[in-house]
Amino acid sequence: MGKGYKVSITGVGSFLPKKVLTNDDLSKMLDTTDEWITKRTGIKERRIVENGVAASDLAVDASLRALEDANVLPSEVDLIVTSTITPDCLFPSTSCYIQEKIGARNAGAFDLLAACAGFVYALSVAKGFVASGAMKTVLVVGAECMSKITDYTDRSTCILFGDGAGAVVVQQGNGRREIITTSLGSDGSQAELLMLPAGGSKLPASRETVESRSHYIKLRGKEVFKQAIINMVDVVTKAAAENNIRVEDVDMIIPHQSNIRIIEAAMEKLKLPKERAYVNINRYGNTSSASIPIAIDEIEKEKLLKPGDTAILVAFGGGLTWGSAVIKW
Ligand code: COA
Repeated sequence: MGKGYKVSITGVGSFLPKKVLTNDDLSKMLDTTDEWITKRTGIKERRIVENGVAASDLAVDASLRALEDANVLPSEVDLIVTSTITPDCLFPSTSCYIQEKIGARNAGAFDLLAACAGFVYALSVAKGFVASGAMKTVLVVGAECMSKITDYTDRSTCILFGDGAGAVVVQQGNGRREIITTSLGSDGSQAELLMLPAGGSKLPASRETVESRSHYIKLRGKEVFKQAIINMVDVVTKAAAENNIRVEDVDMIIPHQSNIRIIEAAMEKLKLPKERAYVNINRYGNTSSASIPIAIDEIEKEKLLKPGDTAILVAFGGGLTWGSAVIKW
């Protein structure tokens, strides 16, 4: 099968809410310490939205920045694909709110759910549409208000998550940041390791679901932790092999930011220096599908990669789901 047009990320933007929630703040809310959180996760602080702010609000700022960076008008966008597990509401899609707020009057809009791997999934969808010639300009968004589904009485999960958004513009290849390949995977047999049980058709909202705190993230941390390391190593190894690249020649791994110990253990198994993984989990925690586009934006701002460098995006999350993308910078 032909691969079609080359596809590039032509613009990138991100947005983080101003309000900071530090480990010390958390230690005043429940039985934990800055030392424990730092040592076990690498997180020092995370950003949290104010009341009344929804995922689409963060997404709009990130999207406008990405469009400006790509020199694209909102009216030129053909499709908006948003990855989120914290949509403004169950329906309509968060993408529709973004479409209206940025004035993308010629765009189709839908959301996609692949939890923390969602941005890589959305990027893969965008690549497919652009590579086939079906669309010229796709806006890919990862936007999360994780604080709205985090149980701040559960010390083993509430320390992990933060809010934020990132967006990229995907268009035909311009010789920069070319998306060479993407790969996706899933294992629904392990769905219960990481989920939000209530509020869907299986367990609709009721007094009981509220009383049992079933509208918050439930995480079996230890099991997810082990799976995440094994998976990250496997996915990066396969992505490199598929492209005839030696793992040691990859210039940067841009991982989903879930836990510094997951990232460092995977880098060790890949026999790569840990500095070759981009890390900002210390500042933002786990922002689910926003983590990778936020990282790409920071990498661009700090000019950490040069044209021709090879980067691999790699993400793993609830579902279970995982994915990678090989980008020639
Ligand atoms: N502060 C202090 N102690 C804490 C704590 C906290 N915030 N959270 C848990 N503990 C305690 C536990 O109660 C337990 O105590 P015990 O030994 O007396 O029972 C001890 O610390 C160890 O808990 P455990 O859950 O085994 O710790 P861990 O090393 O596995 O770390 C996570 C917990 C959640 C940080 C870790 O498992 C993790 O990051 N998992 C991956 C989660 C993730 O990223 N999910 C999203 C993927 S996209």
